[in-house]
Amino acid sequence: MDGKIFVPPIKIQGIKTKLVPLIKQNVSLSPGTLWVEPFMGSGVVGFNVRPGCALFADINPHIINFYNAIKSGGINSDIVRAFLQDNGRMLEEGGEKFYYHVRERFNDTHSPLDFLFLNRSCFNGMIRFNREHKFNVPFGHKPHRFSKAYITKITNQVKYVEDCLKIYDWEFICQPFSDTIAMPEGDMFIYCDPPYSGRHNDYYDSWDERSELELCRCLQESEARFMLSIWDCNKYRENGSINTVWNFCRKISHEHFYHVGAKEANRHSMTEALLMNYPAATSITAGHQPSPVTFPA
Ligand SMILES: C[S@@+](CC[C@H](N)C(=O)[O-])C[C@H]1O[C@@H](n2cnc3c(N)ncnc32)[C@H](O)[C@@H]1O
Repeated sequence: MDGKIFVPPIKIQGIKTKLVPLIKQNVSLSPGTLWVEPFMGSGVVGFNVRPGCALFADINPHIINFYNAIKSGGINSDIVRAFLQDNGRMLEEGGEKFYYHVRERFNDTHSPLDFLFLNRSCFNGMIRFNREHKFNVPFGHKPHRFSKAYITKITNQVKYVEDCLKIYDWEFICQPFSDTIAMPEGDMFIYCDPPYSGRHNDYYDSWDERSELELCRCLQESEARFMLSIWDCNKYRENGSINTVWNFCRKISHEHFYHVGAKEANRHSMTEALLMNYPAATSITAGHQPSPVTFPA
């Protein structure tokens, strides 16, 4: 398979685009394995692994509705293009006022097209909901956001998923991780990317020590092969749970850099880890040959 990474239409904080190559090298899949992803977020990991059968789940209903709308044909790349052209024009004319109009409309109707529009024009491509389940991310201050090239990019991203859904048996379900992990039987591989503890303050995205222990219990009970994305260390501290809660797992670490603001001095390093409950030798991705799907430019 070529080295291109497909970037999905919905963005989310903590998106694992940069880790996809490392994850793909280390998953343990044979052709019939069911891919289970209880914290799908943007879906970037599973969408690039491209398993034949997959169960994608998330507790955020808007992510799941969006992909189910593509699956059912309720939205497709042509509909998305026309919608973004119309609403992009209105954003250009109405600026921030129009953004907040769409935000209100989305909080009333929960339209997947509005969700996409907001996600691609809000501040930093974030997904955040308050206690009343209302999307509350402010405007990204770019009224000319939906240029022709940007709309083509998003349309192609939707088309990629559309094409995958014609080839593969992929299901999208809104439910908590414990239900997802308990659901399937047989040969499965579970990839987990839960929120990082205490990092975000969001209705659908909170996480603490209790949740982590519960996740560990569910995974062990399932007896499946699993991979967990977790933060390992930064300049100030190490993640203590790696050697306690997850001490039965094998670890691969990966350092990456992120910026806070534009200054070079604000370049920070963070080490993330992949934890696995199977030995390196059982990594049999070579047997997994995803069908070709055209990558968007
Ligand atoms: C770090 S993000 C996943 C990012 C994803 N791997 C990616 O690369 O885009 C965590 C996701 O877990 C979901 N989530 C949070 N708590 C959950 C729970 N209890 N059960 C299921 N999903 C949950 C959030 O809605 C969010 O989409």
